[in-house]
Amino acid sequence: MLSQITAIATTLTPRLIEIRRHLHSHPELSGQEYKTAAYVAGVLSSCGLRVQELVGKTGVVAELPGAEDPRILAVRADMDALPIPERVELDFASTQLGIMHACGHDVHTTVGLGTAMVLSQLELPLAGLTRFIFQPAEETAQGARWMIDDGVMEGVSAVLALHAYPSMPARTIGIRYGALTAAADDLEITILGESGHGARPHEAIDAIWIASQVVTTLQQSISRTQNPLHPIVLTIGQITGGRAPNVIADTVKLSGTVRSLHPDTRNHLPQWIETIVAGVCQPYGAKYELTYHRGVPSVLNDPALTELTARCASEALGDDCLQIIHEPSLGAEDFSLYLEHAPGTMFRLGVGFRDRAVNYPLHHPKFEVDESAIAAGVITMAYASYRYWQTVTAL
Ligand code: NI
Repeated sequence: MLSQITAIATTLTPRLIEIRRHLHSHPELSGQEYKTAAYVAGVLSSCGLRVQELVGKTGVVAELPGAEDPRILAVRADMDALPIPERVELDFASTQLGIMHACGHDVHTTVGLGTAMVLSQLELPLAGLTRFIFQPAEETAQGARWMIDDGVMEGVSAVLALHAYPSMPARTIGIRYGALTAAADDLEITILGESGHGARPHEAIDAIWIASQVVTTLQQSISRTQNPLHPIVLTIGQITGGRAPNVIADTVKLSGTVRSLHPDTRNHLPQWIETIVAGVCQPYGAKYELTYHRGVPSVLNDPALTELTARCASEALGDDCLQIIHEPSLGAEDFSLYLEHAPGTMFRLGVGFRDRAVNYPLHHPKFEVDESAIAAGVITMAYASYRYWQTVTAL
């Protein structure tokens, strides 16, 4: 079966590169993937799949029917681009001013389409239904929620996905057991003091001074009170407050992001942060307002499906093409929301050029993809899907 999958994928490669280049030159921002979705739906319909559009706003879902098995395998790709002006000279460069596929979602979409094409051309049907999910708005961490709210995870027993990774060369696959990405939450703290003359601080409550202590105390307390084996990154990225150089500020707003890997750590973070903020404000008579918004959880890869993907990648591409990733990323990925409904795994698809000293990172205006990664991604994803059905039906 592997040779059949590889042969179909190889034949399809020129077409897949054409698809990827079309997507790359027509990037659309999160939630506005109208043309991309129409294009994706067109490709899927032409392979004879059942296609549903306008799922999760601008998402597309296609189903490849299988034999009798009632289970459903989902393969997920994301379609949105970023508000980054492209700075690479390409024949198929972005035609949309200030918008670029700088996170490789054009490749993810192409691999999703390629997998659907390969699986629909197999001689025998798979044991059960395979559902291809093309979601919008991953970059704003909204699309997965929209798709799930529209029911795409109903009946799904496993879900697979990949993400491009420029620091690994093309035709390599990176596998990570356990946490692949971090939980990402938003934090907003408003310190409420009392305004006064800059020359008479004792008659006022200085919100700027207290806010600066809140920032410092939070950073220091992470190092002294939190388990260092369960990492937390708390970044205050924005401070606003004050009216004039000689007026003591009555209000300061701090906004930030909180990243963590361990679910228990994440659960206690809102209470812990509030205790620190309250403890700093109270002695000086300041008040505070705190909003902690839970964003996406950590992508926790399922051990069995990760093992399955690893085996498929090394069988299909060779042992030297498989890399075990030892460290998680503190970036975020809304694929984690699908994993609240079914076990799954996300692997990393190497897209770096072997002969280049520098492969620019994701979200960089010079980010570029070695397109030989596409066939490697399709073969791995299609073979893992095939093997998934073989494994579950053998149980
Ligand atoms: Ni991405």
